This record gives sequence, C-alpha cells and structure tokens, in this order.
Amino acid sequence: MSERRVLLIIGGGIAAYKAPELVRQLKAKGLAVRCLLTAAAEQFVSPLSLASVSGDKVYENLFDLTDEAEMGHIQLSRDADLILVAPATADLISKMAQGLANDLASTTLLATDKPVMIAPAMNVRMWEHPATQRNLGLLRADGIALIGPDEGDMACGEFGLGRMSDPIEIAAAAHALIEKAPARTSEPTAPPALAGHKILVTAGPTYEPIDPVRYIANRSSGKQGYAVALALQALGAEVHLVSGPTALNDPQGMRVTRVETAQEMLHACQASLPVDAAIMAAAVADWRPSDSHDKKIKKTKSGLDDLKLTENPDILATIAKQGDHRPALVVGFAAETDKVETYASEKLARKNCDWIVANDVSQDSGIEGGVMGSDENRVHLITQTGTQNWAQMPKVHVAQKLAHEIATHFTPTKETR
Ligand code: PMT
Repeated sequence: MSERRVLLIIGGGIAAYKAPELVRQLKAKGLAVRCLLTAAAEQFVSPLSLASVSGDKVYENLFDLTDEAEMGHIQLSRDADLILVAPATADLISKMAQGLANDLASTTLLATDKPVMIAPAMNVRMWEHPATQRNLGLLRADGIALIGPDEGDMACGEFGLGRMSDPIEIAAAAHALIEKAPARTSEPTAPPALAGHKILVTAGPTYEPIDPVRYIANRSSGKQGYAVALALQALGAEVHLVSGPTALNDPQGMRVTRVETAQEMLHACQASLPVDAAIMAAAVADWRPSDSHDKKIKKTKSGLDDLKLTENPDILATIAKQGDHRPALVVGFAAETDKVETYASEKLARKNCDWIVANDVSQDSGIEGGVMGSDENRVHLITQTGTQNWAQMPKVHVAQKLAHEIATHFTPTKETR
C-alpha cells in the first residue's frame, strides 16, 4: 500500500505551537504530513519550521495563484487519506458546521470527501458555549471524528475543558482512523515540475576562525536559503543543501552538508557537481584571517593589529565558470545596502551567473530588524529577460515564487513558451 497521507490543518490558537511536535508524532507513525495554515495560525507557528519538520511545502493562502496553478484546493484534499484539524478553534469548528468557504482551510474542508478528525482547543467558556456545542453536534452528525479536548490549566489562566489533546494521543487516534479509511484514489497527476532535476542550494553564513574561540561571521540566519531548498524540493527537485552554521534544523528528505568556512563550502559545492541548477543564497565571508592560530590570541595593547586578512574564493563565480560541469542555471543572491539593482546587475555580469536575486540588507529596507535573520524579504529578480520587482513578503513565499520561476525556466508552460 502506498504511503498514507495526512493533511494537517492548523487553526489560529495558542495550541498551534504544538503543531511541529504533532507533525513529528504523525511521521513517527509512518504517515506523510502536509501542513495547511490559516492566516491566524501563522501568528503562532512559522511556515518554515513546519516545512522543515514535514519535508513538504506549507500551504497558506487561497488566493496564491502559484499554488492554485500547481495544486488547487480540490487536489489538496484529494491527495490526503485523512484531514486532521489541530488545533480546531471555535471559529474553524463554526465554519465547518455552517459549510463556510472563505479561505484555503475552510474551502479545502468543504471540498473533501476524505475522513476528517478535529482536535479542539479553546477557552473553557467558549467550549461550553451552546453555540460551540451545537456546532459540534452538527459535525458529529456529519461523521467527523473528535479527539479531546482535555481538562487542565489554560494559556488564558483558567482551568477546565479546552486544552488540545497531547500530540502523541492525536497522532495515535489519527493513525487508527487512517488505518480504517479506504486507500486513496486520486486521479493520475502530472509529475511535479522539477522532478528529475538536481539542484544545489547554499544557505547561511560562513564562520572564518581567527583563533579557537573567535571568528569572523555575518548575520545570515539561513532562513531564505532553507526556504528555497524546501520550495524546490516541493516541486520535485532532488536538492543538495550546503549550509553554513545556522540554528535551523536540517530539512527532511534532502541531502544536507554542514560546513563552517567559505573554503569548506566551496569544496562541498564542487563535490556536488554536476547539477542542473545552483542557487547560491549563502552569505559567504569575503575575507578570512591569513594565519591560523591554534591558541587563543592574547589581548595586547596593539589589539588585533596583527590580524591580516586573505580574500576567500568566490564560490558563485567558481561554480558559474566550471566548463563542462557548469549548471544550466546559476542563480546568485546579492546583498546590497544601496543602489540595489545597479550593484546586483554588476555582480550578475562579474560572477557570470544567469539570474540574481537582489535584496536590500540595509537597516532602512523597511523590514523590521533588517532582512538578515527576519522572516520577511523584498527582492528584485534580475534575469536575461528583465527585472521583476516583488513586493515585501515572507521568505517562504519569496522561495516559492523563485522555485516557480525556476520550474518555468526548465519546463516552460504554454503561456511562457
Ligand atoms: O540567511 P537570512 O537571514 O535568511 O538572510 C538572507 C540573505 C540576505 C543572506 C540572502 O537573501 C542573501 O542575500 N544572500 C547572499 C548574501 C551575500 O553574500 O551577498 P553578496 O552580495 O556578498 O554575494 C553575492 C553572491 O556571491 C551570493 O550569491 C553569494 O553567495 C556569493 N558569494 C559571495 C562571496 C564569496 N566569497 N563567494 C560567493 O559565492
């Protein structure tokens, strides 16, 4: 029997923070999990952490045309053996009971013919309210399975029924239900757009050691690069992620090579060739200390006057120059603080890449705290055919749009041919 799949719809309640653990527990039961977040849920759990733990794209917005073109809400519900709503908020329960369909979660729930289980979580008074109990009665009559809620202390400070059940219990109940469900029969679908394509992605900073305790680094978190790797994987690509030191978990289902220095990153990238495309989102240190010190450098009056720097190899330019092994598509990222498009275009030409994604990493970019480390980005995609100026959006969405452009480049659609 093929792998059984759960579509996990995450509602916007405090219990949404347990969603990554629930995904882990479902996967431990041998179930594949795809996540769908309501707009409110995004306030409690990040799409990137769910994408990392599920190893799949995270769906969020009904009106994302890219998503609709690749996987409409009907297909989302057809591709699952079970739809699990956790946490099921009072609002989501009410929408389900009334048959409302005004966002991706409710539309998918209304479009499904698959078993549905809900794990409610809400304040005890909301749970006890006659309206909620009436709605639950309607859902039970519709054949929807229920797990929990449990009794206990609540985030709001009250005590009573309304806590979402433990992820281990929810996963066990979901597994038992899915075992009883008939095997999925979905219409044959076209292979994902990037199936059969090998893609190298770099992400994060590099650390260049000064001595055993100090290093030169930058503020890159790896979020943008990891999101790109996941978005390409979701379109079927075989992704090799080469990452500098980050606090992020390894995305599942792809090869990940952890490196520290620019030289190590270069070697890992070269060893990955041949690939069809290379997407270089890492913030590689331009310089490294010339001398390696085995012992901690002593603090002296002259400070670090003796610190001499050597230029690091340019990984992007090296990969873009490889004769026979040059990937068919080489995409650089450019981190600029002024004249963003101009400097990025110069880098595109100087480093011989095909496209460059330019982002403004200055403190006045309009993104709170700056692009590096934050969840948002605003980029310009510069290609041979011109420049696209994308609005500010979550890095996950930048990654999905970029992955879509890459897929279109390799397999042009009728409109773009
Ligand atoms: O990691 P996040 O916190 O999510 O932030 C994302 C980001 C801002 C780091 C990312 O979007 C980004 O812009 N990455 C590239 C950062 C950078 O190093 O830019 P650059 O303009 O210095 O370099 C241009 C290109 O050359 C990049 O593709 C870089 O990977 C590459 N390069 C640079 C120097 C070097 N020695 N070797 C390289 O390959």
